Amino acid sequence: MSMDEFLTGVFRRLEPEDFRVLTAVELGMVSHAYTPIEDVVKYSSLPREEVLYRVKRLNGFRLIRGIVSPFEGYVLNYYGYDFLALNALVKAGKLEALGKSVGIGKEADVFEGLTSTGEKVIVKFHRVGRVSFRQTRRVRRYIADRRHISWLYQSRKAAEKEFEALEILNRVNAKAPKPLAQNRHVVVMGFFSGVELVNVKSVDEPLPLFRDIVDEVKQVYFEAGLIHGDLSEYNIIIKEDGDFMLIDWPQFIRRSDPESEHYLKRDLEKVTGFFNKRFNLKLNTDRVLNYVLGSADGF
Ligand SMILES: Nc1ncnc2c1ncn2[C@@H]1O[C@H](COP(=O)(O)OP(=O)(O)O)[C@@H](O)[C@H]1O
Ligand SMILES: [Mg+2]
Repeated sequence: MSMDEFLTGVFRRLEPEDFRVLTAVELGMVSHAYTPIEDVVKYSSLPREEVLYRVKRLNGFRLIRGIVSPFEGYVLNYYGYDFLALNALVKAGKLEALGKSVGIGKEADVFEGLTSTGEKVIVKFHRVGRVSFRQTRRVRRYIADRRHISWLYQSRKAAEKEFEALEILNRVNAKAPKPLAQNRHVVVMGFFSGVELVNVKSVDEPLPLFRDIVDEVKQVYFEAGLIHGDLSEYNIIIKEDGDFMLIDWPQFIRRSDPESEHYLKRDLEKVTGFFNKRFNLKLNTDRVLNYVLGSADGF
């Protein structure tokens, strides 16, 4: 069973009481390493017997995990957090179904999705500070460790930041996905059909494409006041007709940041280096940088 089948299959089987228990565990995690079972009972307002049944069930679905000593307590796993966000997005009418996976990265899992009006969208689950099994065991040993809270917090922050960038970019009509919704660590955005630049083996005219990308970076810099911060051949999607989109914005930097030029240069170095190598061009990053900064008319 693929991950997406697992997610969709389990999601359909969850009942309102399951979500109440998940929400109670989430609430307790604000102040506890593991939410004590008593708090799960209290926050969910469900009978104790019911809660005991639900935590077992949710544990079986791998949405939460627990400890039995020094007290009985539970934390959300990533899947549990995923379902809380999905449930909220579905209830808000922003999302109808989750489709196939389009990318499992280091810091995000990305899926196709469908809205109630049949629009194809991208559903991006941020996964900052994803802990390995060994780290999980360490967290178990040091119950006061706050790292498990931090993955929740960091992932939500990343989603909020990416959504904020997409909103700013869309206000100036930049070539970035349309922001549709955000809940917890999940961002729903417009789908752009194309391939990542890294997978484009040849183009008729690479130089005009490069110029278009650089002009877009320049427009984003001046009109949106943003720098991507992780621009590369992996975060540029190219359509058949040469149109393109800059994606993956959680680490954006503001132009007002004192280090902004450093990040701008790094972004341009990446893209210039890629074009030089892949398409045998002889572009010079410093000249491209001067052009973007407005101190040269061309490069
Ligand atoms: N708006 C989008 N439209 C189409 N495909 C997308 C979109 N956003 C992301 N993808 C696909 O998902 C992959 C991963 O998304 P990305 O935002 O770059 O996250 P990360 O690199 O952190 O995993 C991309 O390389 C791209 O193939
Ligand atoms: Mg990416």
